[in-house]
Amino acid sequence: MNLVVAGATGRTGSEVVAEASRRGHDVSGVARSADDVGDVRVSPASELPDLLEDADALVDFTVPEASREHAARAADAGVPYVVGTTGFDDEGIADLREAGEATPVLKAANFARGVRALLEVVQAGVAALPDYDVELTETHHSGKRDAPSGTATAVLDAVDDARDATLDRTHGREGEHERGDAEVGVHVRRAGNVRGEHEVLLAGNDEVLSLSHRAESRRVFAAGAVDAAEWLAGREPGWYDFGDVP
Ligand SMILES: NC(=O)c1ccc[n+]([C@@H]2O[C@H](COP(=O)([O-])OP(=O)(O)OC[C@H]3O[C@@H](n4cnc5c(N)ncnc54)[C@H](OP(=O)(O)O)[C@@H]3O)[C@@H](O)[C@H]2O)c1
Repeated sequence: MNLVVAGATGRTGSEVVAEASRRGHDVSGVARSADDVGDVRVSPASELPDLLEDADALVDFTVPEASREHAARAADAGVPYVVGTTGFDDEGIADLREAGEATPVLKAANFARGVRALLEVVQAGVAALPDYDVELTETHHSGKRDAPSGTATAVLDAVDDARDATLDRTHGREGEHERGDAEVGVHVRRAGNVRGEHEVLLAGNDEVLSLSHRAESRRVFAAGAVDAAEWLAGREPGWYDFGDVP
């Protein structure tokens, strides 16, 4: 398969390039700069339309403003688009959804299969313990721009689904603060080179249930994203989820 990777020089994109190459795909990349990654040619993002002419899929790990542009180019070319970038605002999501009308689009805040399972387990745990307090902590490397992480937001959405309510998301605490029943605490740490850790704490009735996931390398995200691209190639235009990928 002919795969184009946007953000090919980045921490995650370079792992996607390596994973896709290991699987025998023809890989090319785009980034702001044009620093080749190993044997893989990386072009400036302005060359994306040319590269998409022969592409079977585009995988994107960049920044929201670039991804909005990449989604439009994928839609123009009718190329399946897998996006792992996080931190979109509502307008950004609307742009991605618009692209999904012209080409298959698969967006995931986390391409680790363990996180996919975590979302299901959190939902089951919160539903089974309706009166327990819920607190979320996430840790990422110091270069991460958006906070809380896209994965943390997905976990919080799963908590809301399980409670059938929209809980108040309290981001850190300082000073006097009485905890409300409809509150979920959200705690963000940024340090060093941590690949991504998420922990959900459920506490009540003199017990604590802790559900957590830790990515041990970025290869786990790359493997999931390439699985998604292989599965998405040849699908009908539409909006897909990582949960759709077997
Ligand atoms: N969904 C998941 O499983 C998952 C996992 C990990 C990360 N992420 C997300 O993926 C995104 C990238 O993370 P990262 O840590 O890999 O970032 P990174 O190391 O900073 O890499 C960003 C890449 O995007 C390129 N880029 C930046 N601005 C651009 C622009 N305006 N136009 C074109 N290319 C541009 C950079 O190119 P230059 O080097 O030339 O500047 C670089 O190749 C973040 O949103 C992160 O949260 C998602």
